[in-house]
Amino acid sequence: MEIEGLKGKTAELARELQKEKLPRHVAVIMDGNGRWAKKRGLPRVKGHEKGAKTLRKVVELSAKLGIQYLTAFAFSKENWERPREEIEFLMDLLRRYLKNEIPTLIKNDIKLEVAGDLEELPEDLQEKIKDAIRKTSAGKRLDFILAINYGGRAEILRAAKGMAQEGIFSQESFRKHLYLPHVPDPDLLIRTSGEIRISNFLLWQIAYTELYFTPVLWPDFNEREYIKALLDYQRRERRFGRV
Ligand code: IPE
Ligand code: IPE
Ligand code: MG
Repeated sequence: MEIEGLKGKTAELARELQKEKLPRHVAVIMDGNGRWAKKRGLPRVKGHEKGAKTLRKVVELSAKLGIQYLTAFAFSKENWERPREEIEFLMDLLRRYLKNEIPTLIKNDIKLEVAGDLEELPEDLQEKIKDAIRKTSAGKRLDFILAINYGGRAEILRAAKGMAQEGIFSQESFRKHLYLPHVPDPDLLIRTSGEIRISNFLLWQIAYTELYFTPVLWPDFNEREYIKALLDYQRRERRFGRV
């Protein structure tokens, strides 16, 4: 594929991508910010700051490629166990990210959505999130989903409760009670930083997702690394239990 704005080796790699074989939904566990900072003798939060810039690049390239859904794990339910200062920094980074990104999201025809329990977030942040969702709701090119205060088990429990209330016990009924029922399961899940685990992300949805693990730390992940992951995905044979 010929993607505007890409140069050199990255553009060359992008030429190997086959449009018709791109994943419809890419999910990312953005991990390794703290280690990236530590390696440079910087406080962990500097890694989060750089990580936010990486996310912007990944969102923009996803839109250019024509990927329809991108889900990024920004804050897990378990992340509340971190030091208070780091949590506060992350919440503030989210505030800043939303403020800075809204115009770009609108310009690029991207719709923002959120998966997770928002009511446990600081109230002003909840408002900012709702505002960003409202302002970008006309976006048609890419559905950009931020998983915030998200946990896969919590989502499963929530869906099970919803299903029980409805009194219909089926996979279709369960699906209707997920945070974002209209979003198809991810085709590709990328985790950076060399950890080979799921860390309570999208447990129900990844039943048949292709997994891609890279040692690259999230702040160092770039267009080229993203395209490498997509090329790897295109070489996979998905069978869904069939022969
Ligand atoms: C991922 O980076 C970002 C969040 C979990 C918010 P980490 O902060 O987990 O970085 P490492 O894994 O400690 O390097
Ligand atoms: C997963 O990363 C959560 C996010 C990227 C937001 P963690 O760093 O929290 O996961 P563990 O603790 O290494 O499993
Ligand atoms: Mg981590």
